[in-house]
Amino acid sequence: MHKFHSLVIKQVQPQPHAVIWTLSIPESLLAEFACLPGQHLTFKATINGEELRRSYSVCSAPSRTGEMDVLIKAVDDGRFSQAAQLMQPGNTVEVLPPSGHFVLEPKEGGRYVAFAAGSGITPVMGMIHAALEQTNTAQFVLFFGNSKTSDVLLHADIAALKDRYGARFSVHFFLTRQKVDMPLYHGRFDAQKVNEVYRSFLHSWQADGYYVCGPGPMIDVVCDTLANLNIAPELIHNERFLSDGQEITLAEKTIQEDAGVTVTIDGANHEFNLVAGTQATLLESAESAGVDLPFSCKAGVCATCRCKLVEGEVEMINNYSLEKWETDAGYILSCQSVARSSTIHISFDE
Ligand code: FES
Repeated sequence: MHKFHSLVIKQVQPQPHAVIWTLSIPESLLAEFACLPGQHLTFKATINGEELRRSYSVCSAPSRTGEMDVLIKAVDDGRFSQAAQLMQPGNTVEVLPPSGHFVLEPKEGGRYVAFAAGSGITPVMGMIHAALEQTNTAQFVLFFGNSKTSDVLLHADIAALKDRYGARFSVHFFLTRQKVDMPLYHGRFDAQKVNEVYRSFLHSWQADGYYVCGPGPMIDVVCDTLANLNIAPELIHNERFLSDGQEITLAEKTIQEDAGVTVTIDGANHEFNLVAGTQATLLESAESAGVDLPFSCKAGVCATCRCKLVEGEVEMINNYSLEKWETDAGYILSCQSVARSSTIHISFDE
């Protein structure tokens, strides 16, 4: 189901320039809010008369029943994230069930590697919990970049996992603005650093998956460097995110011919028509036609609006989130897709 639910914030914990909300999941919503490690929640709030939607990754262990944690970093001009810092236990928030495909489903004996920077740690944290807690033998290596030690998010949780799981979990901190004894651990993840890390820790390790999350340029350089080290593309996964308030402008999106559109969602079909010359994505057209679809960033980043193209042709303007196997299988981002045939059928149920 793609419906918002009211959830109560059970606990609020401070983090460096951030806050963790623990949300209570009532028994009646446990199945709908079952979360794969790495997925995110989309929140909706009206601030100064404007509806805002933001997505934040679940950073708690999937094994915790009836509650889940999200970490919300405070962004200077971010209206949602600033308001979030003031929320108190007992307050209610509007939330869509978990979504996202940047997930790790660990297997026994699996070996997993993550490169995270700043708040990019949040989805990775769910993956680390899962790999260590849901298996007896999987191993995880985390390379985590920050500007200084005092900025490290979830530091105590990472230390607690290290204490508990010993050799199955390795963590390496990298700092850009604080002196460290070993040169390897100073500086950002550029191509040289990733090559050094690979040579020092990974070259004979045969990892089953590499997971990369952080600012866009960091993701690009880490993924490109791993690819240049001959890591198979299907083993390299990444998730981009927009900071609160950050926007990406959409290029030309004019519909060139009249089209009839069918949208399947939650078992029901909705139909509407598009007129040639209109400037609208499928998501915007559906909104105008009164069809309520899931979305968050409207920028091609979060994949909350992902659906399957069952019939017809579309052009996707930006795609920062779907992997090749998904586009090959017919998945599209409705917030970025413009109709390019006279009949379109998309489904959110597949
Ligand atoms: S709403 Fe985020 S990718 Fe479409």
